[in-house]
Amino acid sequence: MQRVGQNERVPVTITLNGRQVTALATSRTLLSDFLRQAVGATGTHVGCEHGVCGCCTVMIDGVAGRSCLALAVQVDGCRIDTVEGLAGEGGALNALQRAFQANHALQCGFCTPGILMSFTDLLARNPSPTEQEVREVLGGHICRCTGYAGIVAAVLQAAAEMRGEAA
Ligand code: FES
Ligand code: FES
Repeated sequence: MQRVGQNERVPVTITLNGRQVTALATSRTLLSDFLRQAVGATGTHVGCEHGVCGCCTVMIDGVAGRSCLALAVQVDGCRIDTVEGLAGEGGALNALQRAFQANHALQCGFCTPGILMSFTDLLARNPSPTEQEVREVLGGHICRCTGYAGIVAAVLQAAAEMRGEAA
């Protein structure tokens, strides 16, 4: 079997927000670093780099996951969705993003990309989450400046709008 050295770079191909991209990664390049440094998707933020803060969360084949806990080579061939893919035509914010804006659910915004991706996952699986279910998902994220009440309100408002219930 051919061995790949630690620093040898190999091509990794992902479908990033619907567009196929290929870039080089070593066998130990984190997905978070691959996204930010190799393919320029800097909307994914990096905080703790050990799975605690949640700001690096992306969707991997449709499921939210920590990009700092995955290796780029592990996701070769996978679909990766990041915060850059949430907005629609011409950069129009989607319902979740608009609800964050309306409910003051972000301040510095550092934690926001990961939180948006976790709730994109939740709302795809569960269009009618309870406040407790929203809080349980939010428990996987650390926000150091906004506080969490606005985020909970934003997710519940977005869910209602997506169900067609918003005023
Ligand atoms: S940077 Fe990945 S969980 Fe904090
Ligand atoms: S908005 Fe600043 S860390 Fe969350």
